[in-house]
Amino acid sequence: MEVRLDGRVAIVTGAGAGLGRSHALMLASRGAKVLVNDLGSASDDPDSARRAADVVVEEIRAAGGTAVANYDSVADPAGAQALVASAVEAFGGVDILVNNAGILRDKSFGKMDMADFDEVVRVHLSGTAYVTHAVWPLMTAKKYGRVVFTLSNTGLYGNFGQANYGAGKAGLVGLMNVLRIEGAKNNILVNAVAPMAATRMTEASMSAEVLERFLPEYPSAAVAYMCSDQFTESGTIISTAAGHYSAVKIVSSEGAQLDGAASPEAVAAAWSEITDMSGARTFANAAEEVAFVMDAAKSGVVA
Ligand code: NAI
Repeated sequence: MEVRLDGRVAIVTGAGAGLGRSHALMLASRGAKVLVNDLGSASDDPDSARRAADVVVEEIRAAGGTAVANYDSVADPAGAQALVASAVEAFGGVDILVNNAGILRDKSFGKMDMADFDEVVRVHLSGTAYVTHAVWPLMTAKKYGRVVFTLSNTGLYGNFGQANYGAGKAGLVGLMNVLRIEGAKNNILVNAVAPMAATRMTEASMSAEVLERFLPEYPSAAVAYMCSDQFTESGTIISTAAGHYSAVKIVSSEGAQLDGAASPEAVAAAWSEITDMSGARTFANAAEEVAFVMDAAKSGVVA
């Protein structure tokens, strides 16, 4: 079944380049009216006064789509409010929000300036929270929302030199897990992609041969599906790159119930059982995990 977004209004942050541009083009090609947000200039344009968002808006319009540009920073609460207000002014509401804007300030942790730590966390984690918070009342009132966060394998698995970035990205997992629960009764679905693609952000770290396969359109296809009416999940993380798509989950081992005196020696003796992932399980929410632990403690055995 064709994935269509006709009649929907979408905001894509950081959409003047790279993945955001690709998401905006993809959503528009499926019928969404798109607010293209980006604070950047069109770096490869000879006229440096041109804004990156304007160039993407022109591309969307040239392809027959509907779009407006916005230049506010997601890392500023007032900017986040303003960018949502401009979507409302242009299109009358917001149905879809793709939080994509991002920056890097890579350095090994020991050499990292804490101002760069704060800045990266502010753009990725706080910026996503600010814009999502600004659309939340609109989506709640409408009882409809499709929100996508942008994670990274650095936040999920770690990568040298990206402590600030990994912290901001992993923080988004916690934000998503809570918003998934809080949004459920109002049909606001909050999901995430962990993409890899050939963009300005990655051109220095990937070879030309690899870059060719990492088309931004592959992650954008997942984003478009996750923003559609057909998609009914919330809290799903999809890792996507070069045409490969996989789901990422947080899992717990069955663990071991250690009764008697709490001792480091008992923990050490049971370590392989505690960390045995063969019976790993997921939990729908924190309360379910607490219930599991309480059950195990009551019975003294893990079911
Ligand atoms: P990019 O650097 O090509 O594009 C990011 C855009 O965000 C830029 O146009 C920039 O001007 C804009 N931006 C930065 N700060 C902003 C702010 N405060 N407000 C509004 N716009 C702002 O980067 P790319 O590669 O397209 O990355 C997009 C997202 O995907 C980021 O969140 C990034 O962390 C994530 N990601 C990308 C990967 C990749 O392989 N390209 C890997 C993992 C995650």
